[in-house]
Amino acid sequence: MRDFVNIAVLVSGGGTNLQALIDAEKSGVLKSGKIKIVISSSYGAFALERAKKSGIKTAVITKKDFKTAKEKEAALIKTIEENDIDLIILAGYMSILSESFTKRFDKRIINIHPSLIPSFCGEGFYGLKVHEAALEKGVKVTGATVHFVNEIPDGGEIIMQKAVRVLKKDTAETLQKRVMRLAEWKILPQAAEKVSKNILRKGVSE
Ligand code: GRF
Repeated sequence: MRDFVNIAVLVSGGGTNLQALIDAEKSGVLKSGKIKIVISSSYGAFALERAKKSGIKTAVITKKDFKTAKEKEAALIKTIEENDIDLIILAGYMSILSESFTKRFDKRIINIHPSLIPSFCGEGFYGLKVHEAALEKGVKVTGATVHFVNEIPDGGEIIMQKAVRVLKKDTAETLQKRVMRLAEWKILPQAAEKVSKNILRKGVSE
């Protein structure tokens, strides 16, 4: 039996959270799982460059290349299964996953969201919008959450959270950066290790 979990990281953009996972694997924070493949929903994602630089296999599975969302998802499933993936990490992945997908990989998909769920989450809350909403509401504390992914947007079981103070002079941009640096890049690798360790305990196939 393998003594590590095969991880697929799904990305769409810059990939700073992917970088945090790569660094965590190198430093040993993430030791129960290995990133086997990075799958991007867009050809232009800088995350792909980060993966290549670290010698990690990449794939692009994008809507444009398929007639229907169902066909695109079938291609995604095929890639995940061909690579014997045990854990899927959504790190800034901007594409919608169907209910049948999340059910198929129940408790095997985790996501990082840049707020303290249940605040500022669910449909429409992504990217800067999350931080704009937090500033608009005037919260004094925000943060990030890693959670399991189910059919409800940002609705799955919470795995880890970290709070970050909101400063008076914050703009959505400065808040976003601080939440990433102080919370997201820390808890995503820690949660990946926690979940990988649990999956390993149950056993993964060769
Ligand atoms: C992060 O803020 C993450 O919380 C959200 O999307 C952003 C991705 O950034 N889900 P990056 O591509 O990891 O730099």
